[in-house]
Amino acid sequence: MRLLVLGGTRFVGRALVEQAAALGHQVTTFNRGRTGQDVPGVEAVRGDRENAADLLSLVDGREWDWVVDTSGYVPQIVGNSVRLLSSRARAYVFLSTVSVYPGWPAEPVSEDSETYECAPDTPGTAEDEANWTAAQYGAYKAGCERAVQEAFEGQVTILRPGVILGPMENVGRLTWWLTRITRGGRVLAPGDAGKPIQPIDIRDLTAFTLNCLEKGITGTFNLTTPKEHTTFGGLLNACRAVTGSDAELTWVNDEFLVEQKERQWTAIPLWRTPAGTWAVDSAKATAAGLTCRPIEETVRDTYAWLRESGGPLAYDRQAHHGLSPERERELLELWDRR
Ligand SMILES: NC(=O)c1ccc[n+]([C@@H]2O[C@H](COP(=O)([O-])OP(=O)(O)OC[C@H]3O[C@@H](n4cnc5c(N)ncnc54)[C@H](OP(=O)(O)O)[C@@H]3O)[C@@H](O)[C@H]2O)c1
Repeated sequence: MRLLVLGGTRFVGRALVEQAAALGHQVTTFNRGRTGQDVPGVEAVRGDRENAADLLSLVDGREWDWVVDTSGYVPQIVGNSVRLLSSRARAYVFLSTVSVYPGWPAEPVSEDSETYECAPDTPGTAEDEANWTAAQYGAYKAGCERAVQEAFEGQVTILRPGVILGPMENVGRLTWWLTRITRGGRVLAPGDAGKPIQPIDIRDLTAFTLNCLEKGITGTFNLTTPKEHTTFGGLLNACRAVTGSDAELTWVNDEFLVEQKERQWTAIPLWRTPAGTWAVDSAKATAAGLTCRPIEETVRDTYAWLRESGGPLAYDRQAHHGLSPERERELLELWDRR
């Protein structure tokens, strides 16, 4: 099968390209050549999707069975791509997010939950996407989904992942925890060790995507591990085990961290208190073939990649992640004295 990936060199797209090529699919990637490196053996077309002439040269004389769009952030720009590609490809997969639900993370969400109002022709540029607010990111993604649906009429698979972890992660979540726990000593562990969390492994996400393409599965799917798949304690203990660290986890409760006004989700990566954060219903994806590996495997392979590669590709969002050693020490002292 012939597959076009709009993007393909950073994390999600790159993993998908590697897996598709390994399965013998004929893969083309389209990107500017700024981020990451091309996967060997894959046709790489250079161009900027925000530039109409570059898009035209991409489609010139080419056809594909599937398109997977991992780099769509602005509705009008996605609309320009899908209109050009609808006569060149049979089906379109769009990488969206659970942030399309204004209700998330305050409340549990399913695919039927309300999504942001955002017109499919909303203009903009994605140059500064890494610094957008969650609401702008989510609203624009909802507009992008509409643009894709309009052009591909039914031949669309929309994937709405929550948090994606695994080798090549660029955001700085598990990579921060692994680095912190490797340093050892007393580690501030947020909230409750038994709290269920739902991060999905990148390789389970890409396997599900390729399964949808191969079997012609269309529709909209939340993509997270099932509720109760793992816990925050499971994640941090897997980090301790794989790094061989002497780190001593000190669990500090939500109320205390909220009182201290600690920035959720980023300053303490993956820690967030609203009730819906880890209550995303992904039963539909499970029924369509999603399988999820144990968190220990995700942590082990991410650590191996971190050690071999020397760290993630540069990405602005990494700067928002993690507590400084001074702030962590201060919080632990306040916790001890409470
Ligand atoms: N990480 C998470 O936890 C998470 C959670 C939910 C959803 N998602 C979604 O997953 C996707 C993330 O994918 P990724 O970044 O890892 O995908 P990727 O396909 O591996 O990397 C992004 C690609 O887009 C290319 N690109 C960026 N701007 C471009 C432009 N103007 N024209 C052409 N190519 C361009 C980049 O290359 P150049 O810079 O070289 O052009 C790069 O190849 C996003 O859609 C995100 O919303 C992620």
